[in-house]
Amino acid sequence: MWLQVSLFSLSCLLLSIQTQAQDRASLHRSNDPSGRCHYTFTVASPQESSCPGSNSEMDRVLSRLTLLEALVSRLLAGADEGTMTGVGAKREEGLQEAYSQVTGERSQLQQDKERLNRQIQELQRRLAELSQEAESLRQKPCQQTLTSLDTQHENRPANDHGYDFGNSGYQEMKAEVTEISASHLFHEGSHNFTGCGELVSVGDPVSHRKAESITGKYGVWLRDPEPQGPQYTNNTVWRIDAVGRDVRHLFAYEDMDQFSRGLPMKVLVLPEPVESTGATVYRGSLYYQRRLSRTLIRYDLASEYLASRMDLPQAGFHGQHPYSWGGYTDIDLAVDEQGLWAIYSTSKARGAIVISQLNPESLEVKKTWETNIKKNSVANAFMVCGRLYTVASYTVPNTTLNFVFDTATGVGQAVSVPFKNKYSYNSMVDYNHAERKLYAWDNFHMVTYDIRLGRASHGRS
Ligand SMILES: *[C@@H]1O[C@H](CO)[C@@H](O)[C@H](O)[C@H]1NC(C)=O
Ligand SMILES: *[C@@H]1O[C@H](CO)[C@@H](O)[C@H](O)[C@H]1NC(C)=O
Ligand SMILES: *[C@@H]1O[C@H](CO)[C@@H](O)[C@H](O)[C@H]1NC(C)=O
Repeated sequence: MWLQVSLFSLSCLLLSIQTQAQDRASLHRSNDPSGRCHYTFTVASPQESSCPGSNSEMDRVLSRLTLLEALVSRLLAGADEGTMTGVGAKREEGLQEAYSQVTGERSQLQQDKERLNRQIQELQRRLAELSQEAESLRQKPCQQTLTSLDTQHENRPANDHGYDFGNSGYQEMKAEVTEISASHLFHEGSHNFTGCGELVSVGDPVSHRKAESITGKYGVWLRDPEPQGPQYTNNTVWRIDAVGRDVRHLFAYEDMDQFSRGLPMKVLVLPEPVESTGATVYRGSLYYQRRLSRTLIRYDLASEYLASRMDLPQAGFHGQHPYSWGGYTDIDLAVDEQGLWAIYSTSKARGAIVISQLNPESLEVKKTWETNIKKNSVANAFMVCGRLYTVASYTVPNTTLNFVFDTATGVGQAVSVPFKNKYSYNSMVDYNHAERKLYAWDNFHMVTYDIRLGRASHGRS
């Protein structure tokens, strides 16, 4: 009876392996000479698929099946012989051995099946994401090509759909989620406090725009809290889609309305590629980490000129000390009432968050603080009034801000301020002190949160 059961699981298993090939599914979009839009959905055949171990997996299972068959026929033959000649001790020993071998094989197959089932679930999830993406692409008209944009980016582009589409090499992501429960409750302050203070609450996220293509899964968007005008103002919205290996396009939108409608007034092409989602805009410059380096860049928005570049001393980069989300979020730049900051880690700090205040002109480090918050245990961080706040999880819908570190006192502590990841994949959180809002990018959605500051202090303990 058990034999039937394991053969049945085996056929499920073979079926599962075929499903694995869909791991290689991909979607392409192109224009043909007559200007029509083509969508190509490609799925590699099981033979071509370079899925880790899919073929060798099949071979292993098949050879186990052969072994099982051989053992079973030995068992059956042994049983026949046994009835004819009488059961000798030696014969029985052989049968025992064969039986335990078969049992071992069966439990191994059971384990393989469970593992493959888990892989299938993961692949089905990814397939669903891709299908959704394909569906939304099908509903969009084709756009201007990237090349024409590069050469004439002075012109107002039609809109921002699907730029960089061919460049969809994802930055690697880690999916570890470490939820840290805070032990201290926040002590709320007065309701009409307007000065600099401690963050007492974060409102519900408001979505302003949903990215239309896979390149918008994560990115950076914000407004300059201290614009230098007249070309760009506090109404100008900036956006970088951060999916891809060579991220260089900075979209500028006249105001939130144009932004929500996906109509940029300009696309700036950056001189050096951007790493991840840590960029920020401040006093007429874009500040960002150059890809694959600890080099910080200040790019002057009005003159479109690389104004300063400077290495952030000892900073880990490209996956050494990212946030729990991964995505090469090693160096996160932030702006608050007190200026420009870098949030990162070093090997000396052994992965704990290090905060440096930077000179916004030269990018030199003015002062540095070492916290004892493990950078890869929190999902994101931002600065408000000289204090660092960390987000506990990037996926949990009802999460918290779980730590605060005050650079004025050099003291950090656990807190618990409710924070919502409405779309369950929050890749960027930044503070705009002029608007007193958080800007965030949550799973294709560009959202803002109102925040409330208070004079009250955290329960000192
Ligand atoms: C808040 O406003 C109320 C009335 O508007 C005032 O009486 C109160 O003193 C204010 N509280 C603080 C802390 O400013
Ligand atoms: C921009 O600045 C003006 C003048 O200070 C202000 O009235 C307006 O609310 C600001 N707009 C935004 C979006 O912050
Ligand atoms: C999240 O919190 C809201 C209220 O703030 C509540 O209505 C909702 O059920 C919570 N969701 C989960 C998953 O806990």
